[in-house]
Amino acid sequence: MEKNCETVPKVQIEFMNEVHCEEFLLMEELNSFVQESILLNEVHSQITPHLEKIIQHTVEHFDRENRYMREYNFPPYLMHSGEHEQALRNLKMVELEWKNNQDLKKLDQYINQVWRPWFSNHILTMDTITANFLAQFNIDFK
Ligand SMILES: [Fe+2]
Ligand SMILES: [Fe+2]
Repeated sequence: MEKNCETVPKVQIEFMNEVHCEEFLLMEELNSFVQESILLNEVHSQITPHLEKIIQHTVEHFDRENRYMREYNFPPYLMHSGEHEQALRNLKMVELEWKNNQDLKKLDQYINQVWRPWFSNHILTMDTITANFLAQFNIDFK
């Protein structure tokens, strides 16, 4: 199991890389709870609280990027924030479905076939362009 952030694409802004790494590791942890549950055929008690933690982290991650894009008038703001909105809606739907059905296979499929490629692709496109844009200003990131 991957326990570092080597596979997470990097951008020019360090706080973004840190947040991405945290989120990736949270998802890796969730994935290990899910894989363990599938093997043991028993739902791990940490899955639900961990999923909530990931949602919270994602909300803050997206809010922060959105805030800097607005503050520095990033021209394709709506395109980037729109992707955030859609991804968060999807994640919340997965959480709701999980709470209703506790379907491990579905959660596994979401993490490994939906979230993973989405996360990489989002960083390589929207986040990379945004980081390149923000890097031209001398920002003291908070
Ligand atoms: Fe990001
Ligand atoms: Fe983003």
